[in-house]
Formats: sequence, structure tokens, C-alpha cells
Amino acid sequence: MLFTHRRPAAVPASPPPPATCPVDHTALRPSAPPPPVDREAEARQFLELFHTETGRPGLDARWQQVSRELDATGTWLPTTDELTHGARVAWRQSSRCIGRLRWQGLVVRDLRHVRDAAGIHRELVQHLEYATNRGRIRSVISVFAPDSPDTGPRARVWNDQLVRYAGWKTSQEQTLGDARYLEFTRLAISMGWQGPRGRTGARTAFDLLPWIIETDGEQPQVFPVPPKAVREVKLTHPRYGWFASLGLRWHAVPVISNMRLSFGGLDFSCAPFNGFYLGAEIATRNLADPDRYNLLPVVAELADFDVATDPLWRDKALLVLQEAVLHSFTDSRTSIVDHHTESERFAAFVAREERAGRPAYGDWSWLNPYPMTPQDPSWQRYYADGEPSPNFYLDDAAAEVVRSGLPPARSLLRAG
Ligand code: ARG
Repeated sequence: MLFTHRRPAAVPASPPPPATCPVDHTALRPSAPPPPVDREAEARQFLELFHTETGRPGLDARWQQVSRELDATGTWLPTTDELTHGARVAWRQSSRCIGRLRWQGLVVRDLRHVRDAAGIHRELVQHLEYATNRGRIRSVISVFAPDSPDTGPRARVWNDQLVRYAGWKTSQEQTLGDARYLEFTRLAISMGWQGPRGRTGARTAFDLLPWIIETDGEQPQVFPVPPKAVREVKLTHPRYGWFASLGLRWHAVPVISNMRLSFGGLDFSCAPFNGFYLGAEIATRNLADPDRYNLLPVVAELADFDVATDPLWRDKALLVLQEAVLHSFTDSRTSIVDHHTESERFAAFVAREERAGRPAYGDWSWLNPYPMTPQDPSWQRYYADGEPSPNFYLDDAAAEVVRSGLPPARSLLRAG
């Protein structure tokens, strides 16, 4: 059964509450771009970190090489091992992410040589397939060409995630699909996307948005996403038979595609990465937020919760959604985790960092959103402030595309 939902009379003007790991790109507080870099100092600092943490000898010789390179070209070329460590530490220091216990397992795909949109598209499809791994999700990052020290990004993906669902206006106040992506859907259509099954295909609440990929050598291009590269889980509930009739589903792999990887004074604006879902991200935000699928009133009605007299009807409906998500992913052998388990793993990560003599960076409100409880270990303490490099940063211009549905202000296409 397809469903549409009514947009709330007024969309709240205040910023939405924080989502979970690692970053929700629609939050109204994008990380500020770091101050202008002293590339030489950052490169030196990174190489020291790399050699200390990996125990590799040869820091002095490597530094001589890199500083000569910096003098001659204004930038430097990390080895694949350095790139790998840089990306892993960027994850380790991502203060909003609760899943960081696994940082050393990040699979880093060194794709710096892939420079054209068709090549990037091909590699992104492979990223999805490799990360999905028939449900046993692997954490993966695909790193494309570094930004130029003079002209900035050489490639970028305009989508905020590789898998998102379109939003369609079906009447003045009705939306089909993910209402947050109405503008991005319009943008894709204006650039030639024909919709999920061509111009005549019926629209559904779960149509995969195409990718918009831009490089410094080509105009931005729209690429449909092959549905077979996208694992999806149909949602059912362990006790409520009616739940399946809602026709809900969600994709298995969240791949963030608009954050900039940064380390050693270098930036990689095109470096999509994924982990796996915390059930609550899907259940309590994507399916429940009024500006997303807005399902709480629907669930409450079908479950027969008394919205007129029971002040906890929303809490109950949220719990029904959480049960359905965790149950359905587990049942289809697709990686997922509940927030209590992840809170404990995070506490283990923090203990490990502190034993290693490193500050455990963390943004408390992002680590402990609803439905984390005061009894969960991540709730019970504060963390070191800051987002030092290596890290992932969300730039205003990148976040703005999905918010506004307008192309980024500055084109990457270089004259000549
Ligand atoms: N909250 C985002 C979403 O629902 C995903 C953010 C990344 N999450 C993760 N578990 N790696 O799609």
C-alpha cells in the first residue's frame, strides 16, 4: 500500500533536534570550515601522528620528501597507507559519531586517479555493493581526487547521501515520499532525471534519487542509481500484523557523500563513506519527523493509541517503529544496532582512547539524542570539545544544495 501524508500546518522554524551518528546534513549548524591552513605545519603534524601511531620508521626521510614537494608544488601526495590512516583517524575524531569503536576497520578505497563523472559513478556503484556485502555491512570510504590548493574541489557529489528517497508533491498539502527531498527531487528533474521508471512510471514513497556528480572537467551530470546495488528492508512488526500493510521499507546502508575529508593540510571534497544504521536513526527520525515521513499519527491510529487522552501516545508510536526496524533488519540479516548496545560500545571506545593517552572527543547532544536513556553509559559523562584534523567537515555550500534544491553557487568547471 502506498501512502501519502499531510504536511503539518506550519513547519517549525527552530532547528531540528540532533540526529545520530555521525552527522545529519540537514542540521542547521554545519561545522564551520577550518581556519586557513598552514599546510606545511599540518602535513608535518600528520606525518608525526602517522609514524607514531603506526610504529613505522623513517619519519625524517619522509618529511624531507614532503617538504620539498610542498615547496615545489604547494601540496603533497600521501601514500595509500597515509591516506588510509588519515581517513581512519578522521572517523576516530568525529565528535558526533557514536559508532567509532570500529574506526580501525574502515576500508579505504584509494580512488584518487578517478577523475571523470562516469568513472566516479562506476566506483560509487561498487562502493555500495562492497559495503552492502549481502547485509553484513562493511564500513567503507571511497576517496577521489584531492581538492586543488588553488581552485578547490575537483569533484563533488551534490547528494548528501548516496541512497535517499525522492519527495513528490501530490497536492497543495500532500507529499509522497521523503518530504525533506522535495527540492532536491525538483533539481534532479530540472536536470533531466525522468523519475524512477521513466516519465510514465508511477511514483512511489520510496523512489531512489539519482546522483548528481560534478567534476572540474565536465558539466554536472545526473546518474540513475541501479536499484540492484541498493539493499532495502521491508518493514514488518514482530506483533502487529497491520504494520506490513503500511508498505514501509528503508535502505540498509547510509553513505554520507557531502562531507570533506581533511588531514595533513589536504582536503578531499569527494570522499563518500558509510557505516551501518542505529535503528533509532530510521525509526525516530527518518520515518517519524514531521518533515520526513511523518508516521506517528498513522501508527498511533492503527495501533489504537488514544491520542486525545494519552500524553504518551507519541512515545508508544516511536517504540512501535523502533521494534519494527530492529526486527525487520535482524530478520533479513542486515546489520543494524540498537542504541543501548551502541552506547556500551561507545563507552568501550572512550576507555580505549583514554588508555592510549588521547582525548575522547565528543559532542554530548549528538551522542545522546532521543531515545538514549540516562541509564546508558554514553549519557553519564562529558567529552573533550573540538573537531581537530584529521576529521570530516560539512561545508555550508555542500549542505545548502539539499536544503535549497539549488546548484552550488560556484561551478567547478575550469575554463580551457
Ligand atoms: N542519520 C542518517 C540517516 O538516517 C545517517 C547518518 C549516518 N549514520 C550512520 N549510522 N553511519 O540516514
